[in-house]
Amino acid sequence: MQSIFHRVSVREFTDDPVKSVDVEWLLRAAMAAPSACNQQPWEFYVVRDQEMIQALSKCSPYSSPAAGAPLVIVPCYRTEGLEAPDYPLIDLSASVENILLQADSLGYGAVWIGIAPNETRMTNVSEVLKLPETLKPFCLIPVGVPAKTHEQINRFDRSRIHEI
Ligand SMILES: Cc1cc2nc3c(=O)[nH]c(=O)nc-3n(C[C@H](O)[C@H](O)[C@H](O)COP(=O)(O)O)c2cc1C
Repeated sequence: MQSIFHRVSVREFTDDPVKSVDVEWLLRAAMAAPSACNQQPWEFYVVRDQEMIQALSKCSPYSSPAAGAPLVIVPCYRTEGLEAPDYPLIDLSASVENILLQADSLGYGAVWIGIAPNETRMTNVSEVLKLPETLKPFCLIPVGVPAKTHEQINRFDRSRIHEI
């Protein structure tokens, strides 16, 4: 799985679109993630509308990278009918990492823009997407062809390993 050691956050994109077939692969990867009790609490909004992308890019002080992306995926989680109601944010984290790795392996760049659990940012995104009360936005993932990227930095640190 070379993408684990290749993926970096990409915040600048060309104008090239993300092909529909590739969007489906991103979401197939997302839904292949593990989740508590296999509850799969996720719903994915795929935003290509530029006006809405601009609005999303203003939902957090750190969401400006979305403004230059041709596509933004907004993973959301259900709050009702969950078998493991303490776990949807953790489930969504696994799913988002799968999207980031799949984007890298398809030659795209992406970045995880934190929304949950910050209530102000969540309200902002919910208003832009007009989400129902039972659905909460987890993060924003701008995706596109990288205009600028860099090599992954090796963060391996043997001192963080505690063998018993
Ligand atoms: C929970 C979470 C929230 C993040 N939020 C933002 C964000 O709001 N804006 C942004 O540009 N990057 C955001 N990032 C990306 C991190 O800044 C990035 O992953 C980190 O600096 C390590 O760099 P790398 O992804 O290139 O390895 C977030 C990452 C995570 C996991």
